[in-house]
Amino acid sequence: MKFIRSKIIGNGHYTPKKVLTNDDMAKMVDTNDEWITTRTGIKSRCIVEDEFTSDLAYHAAKMAVDKAGLRPDEIEMVVLATVTPDNTTPSTALKVAAKLGVNVGTPAFDISAACSGFVYALTMADNMIRLGQVKNAVVIGAETLSKITDWTDRNTCVLFGDGAGAVVLKAVEGEGTSADSGILSTKIYADAYHFDSLKTTGGVSSSQSTGFITMDGKEVFKYAIGSLAQGAEEAMKLAGIKIEDIDWLLPHQANIRIIEGVGKKLELPDEKVIVNIARHGNTSAASIPLALSEKIEDGTMKEGDVVVLTAMGAGFTWGGAVVRL
Ligand code: ACO
Repeated sequence: MKFIRSKIIGNGHYTPKKVLTNDDMAKMVDTNDEWITTRTGIKSRCIVEDEFTSDLAYHAAKMAVDKAGLRPDEIEMVVLATVTPDNTTPSTALKVAAKLGVNVGTPAFDISAACSGFVYALTMADNMIRLGQVKNAVVIGAETLSKITDWTDRNTCVLFGDGAGAVVLKAVEGEGTSADSGILSTKIYADAYHFDSLKTTGGVSSSQSTGFITMDGKEVFKYAIGSLAQGAEEAMKLAGIKIEDIDWLLPHQANIRIIEGVGKKLELPDEKVIVNIARHGNTSAASIPLALSEKIEDGTMKEGDVVVLTAMGAGFTWGGAVVRL
């Protein structure tokens, strides 16, 4: 019996042109490059001026679709992970789908799982492809976190950035073994009892506004390393892959100390852990697909490489995936 897998056949990413360095941040709040660099690993972040989340998402998705060699009328589904939609409704995925030029009738929807959003979206799309409901999907993570950042709060404003990343998944036949190409496993989690540890101060039904990001930094830090490691370990177990079989660990880019902590917990050498936080900061749902696409483009990641994705974010939510490129 044939075994259906979802294979990444196109990748894309996009960031706005305006760059805010740590020195720029020091002119806005009481902070400095040394504090931000040592505590977070961030040196600069890209910030939108006159673009929306849908614009960033479209550019990333268009690059992925072009690289996949897919015509707009061949796209069967668009899934967008974001916590910064253009409008409360309809979904931002619909705006992107229209810009891409998909056929009328093509399903498109947003997923809200904060920094784990892309892993959640990938999980949904992979399952729908493996069930045979669609033969391909454009999966995007895109954020304009600058719009829900309190630019007077030094505890949070230095951490976040804007950006987008995308992949095109396509159904391919595999053997059902860990030697297959494509997504080998996904696993998602949530702990609903940490709602208040990392959240916006408002929302449509509670305050009729978006609110700003607020968090208990120490609580998030403590939870992040264990959950990111669990996402990676469980996904590897499900895929039948051992730590020594993986080429790259791609963790959500939240903070360099969290990233290094996860690498150590998994006993991986530093050179196998993907880090791009210095130039982007934390871009939430965009963080993993943005880094994935950058590393495919610069030749770091190659066809056949085994990449373990792992993410954690507000909720708390977390999860992992194993992909053979
Ligand atoms: N510049 C200078 N000083 C600052 C800044 C800043 N930008 N921000 C906070 N401080 C000060 C604090 O006010 C505090 O001063 P005080 O001692 O006089 O009160 C001091 O620095 C130490 O603050 P801490 O909160 O103890 O700093 P900590 O070492 O915990 O680092 C950080 C803070 C970086 C936020 C850390 O807790 C962390 O990384 N947490 C994880 C949170 C995270 O990454 N969130 C991203 C979103 S969640 C996700 O993506 C998974």
